[in-house]
Amino acid sequence: MEKHKPLVRNMPQLLHGGDYNPDQWMDRPDILAEDIRLMKLAGVNAVSLGIFAWSVLEPEEGRYEFGFFDSVIDNLYQNGIRVLLATPSGARPAWMAQKYPEVLRVMPDRQRILFAHRHNHCYTSPVYREKVRAVNTALAEHYKDHPALIAWHVSNEYGGECHCELCQQAFRAWLKEKYHGDLDLLNRQWWTPFWSHIYTSWDQIESPTPPDGRGEAYLHGLTLDWKRFVTHQTIDFMNNETAPLRAITPGIPVTTNFMDFYEGLDYSKFKDALDFISWDSYPAWHDTARSNYMTACRTALMHDSMRSYLHKPFILMESTPSAVNWKEINKPKRPNMHKTASLQAIAHGSDSVMYFQWRKGRGASEKFHGAVVDHVGHEHTRVFGDVAQVGECLKKLECVRGAVTNSDVALIYDHENHMALKEAQGFQKSDKKYIDTLVNYYYPFWKNGVSVDVIDSGYDFSGYKVLVMPMLYMIKEGVEERIAQFVANGGTAIMTYLSGMVNENDLCHLGGFPCGTLKDAFGVWAEEVDTLCPDERNAVSYGGQSYEVRDYCEIVHAQGAKTLATYEHDFYQGGGAVFENDYQGGKAYYIACRDTGALTQALCEKVIADTAPARTPRADLPVGVVCTMREDAENKYVFVQNYTDEIQFATFEDTRAVDMETNLPAGSEIELDSFGVRVLRFPKD
Ligand code: GAL
Repeated sequence: MEKHKPLVRNMPQLLHGGDYNPDQWMDRPDILAEDIRLMKLAGVNAVSLGIFAWSVLEPEEGRYEFGFFDSVIDNLYQNGIRVLLATPSGARPAWMAQKYPEVLRVMPDRQRILFAHRHNHCYTSPVYREKVRAVNTALAEHYKDHPALIAWHVSNEYGGECHCELCQQAFRAWLKEKYHGDLDLLNRQWWTPFWSHIYTSWDQIESPTPPDGRGEAYLHGLTLDWKRFVTHQTIDFMNNETAPLRAITPGIPVTTNFMDFYEGLDYSKFKDALDFISWDSYPAWHDTARSNYMTACRTALMHDSMRSYLHKPFILMESTPSAVNWKEINKPKRPNMHKTASLQAIAHGSDSVMYFQWRKGRGASEKFHGAVVDHVGHEHTRVFGDVAQVGECLKKLECVRGAVTNSDVALIYDHENHMALKEAQGFQKSDKKYIDTLVNYYYPFWKNGVSVDVIDSGYDFSGYKVLVMPMLYMIKEGVEERIAQFVANGGTAIMTYLSGMVNENDLCHLGGFPCGTLKDAFGVWAEEVDTLCPDERNAVSYGGQSYEVRDYCEIVHAQGAKTLATYEHDFYQGGGAVFENDYQGGKAYYIACRDTGALTQALCEKVIADTAPARTPRADLPVGVVCTMREDAENKYVFVQNYTDEIQFATFEDTRAVDMETNLPAGSEIELDSFGVRVLRFPKD
């Protein structure tokens, strides 16, 4: 089990640092000098630099000014701090918007925005592409030999869409290619005879608008293709901006920072264009709407999804040292939570803990966003202490860098499926709770220390023992056969209600749900869906117990499968609600209803017991305490985390663990502070 190579150039260490904006303090050399002293105190070894610095780097068209950044970078380097250098395309200078309005985005209502905000450019505009390429070329030429440069942080949180005429033309060209120039084919795939929408010329096609907008919202094939085009165009834009970096600095890896379940882009399509994945994580800790334990569960799922895109460690590029400023209620992290949250990322495969932001600015909208250095300016704050503690801890965890996560279980999170489910009118119209359902199915595995990869339906399933597919409504070409094959080859598959209903263009599969051979593999036919009102409940009997169910009760016929659970009420009382099917070498479970958690847990725990997937060493854990593992050839690194505000104890059967922070034997009973974390090293047998 080889460790992964360092993600960034020449730096086999866990990264600790974050977004550094010295360009907001150009008139304060005293503060810049103080930054270096404080970074060393906080154990910072890397910063993301220049993310929104375009108007400093190119104050006038074609005049590049790198002198200020030269001195910042030299100074950082001399003090042992490395740089993930940003390309500045996340926010453009005012002169550019004024001279070339085409760089400004056009909104779905076809109005062009004014010069404002950030992340709002036209990704098609040849002018914007040329300007980005030029500044990136200049940056790469200028810094190519600088030893501080360890990676390119390309742009910032790509997102959004532009509806200008240039984008419309590019969309039509993309469609022509996708449909091989065959407009009839497009009409059939988009089901355009509906409401007399048959297109007779490519020029009639316009990007969709929201349902209350001026344009099309009800041709789901069009909406989906538009979303695919937006992902395609964003990647194309990104490739345009990375081309000079790759040509001039071939040894410097390239990444861009992703967001939490971001709906605007299909990140699974970016993977081939990036050297490693990085993302920005801002969980709502201490929000009374959800327990910290369940917030941790959802965050764990996100970390796993980031690791799974490239099946290797990732970089936590941003997290807040304390509160954010953009939620409705912005709460600081309680004592210990910063360390626990930071190490959760490491536990799931991050090789870094990075922050937004290093120092709070004095003005504009992020002045009260959490930062390592507060307006008071010194290190004697609780938050600075928390950050410095993480810095110290990461030094002791160096050997975890590059360690792998071994998963026998895959959970399918498919972005296009998500988008199609959102569009689908019927069932629960506005919120079908796809993400909550993913969390519900992820939870039993996470709780039991079973590693999970979170993958798109296009990924290879063959290396897994268990495939979990909640609400896989969209079954794209080839996926049906691959799922059936997975089961036939001895795998265990779990599928739920609202699965196998449409193809990749959102056309319903004919012949009964779930589509095609899935009916054989799962041994069922789902005839109807009863969507329950928010206050309605049904119940199912399983293993002599009654479990509450809500939202969805599918009426399903067993066609070869064994019925494991039955409905207790309504006209389908006594009908099957959970099915188990032996299909060739494997087993397939169909869960026809949405429960409130306990049934999913019982069923998934049965699957865990039957399939014995890779998991953390055996331990007795109280509710709220979770173990997560990374491994290398010699060791298992086990992160034990307490997401409750009480002291807890975890008891391990294997008594050989060493506490990685103290380097002392940990014994079998591990004490955890409120929101505490301990990292244990177990030798491999
Ligand atoms: C991120 C963004 C940062 C900063 C941060 C605040 O989404 O990349 O620039 O705005 O949010 O939480």
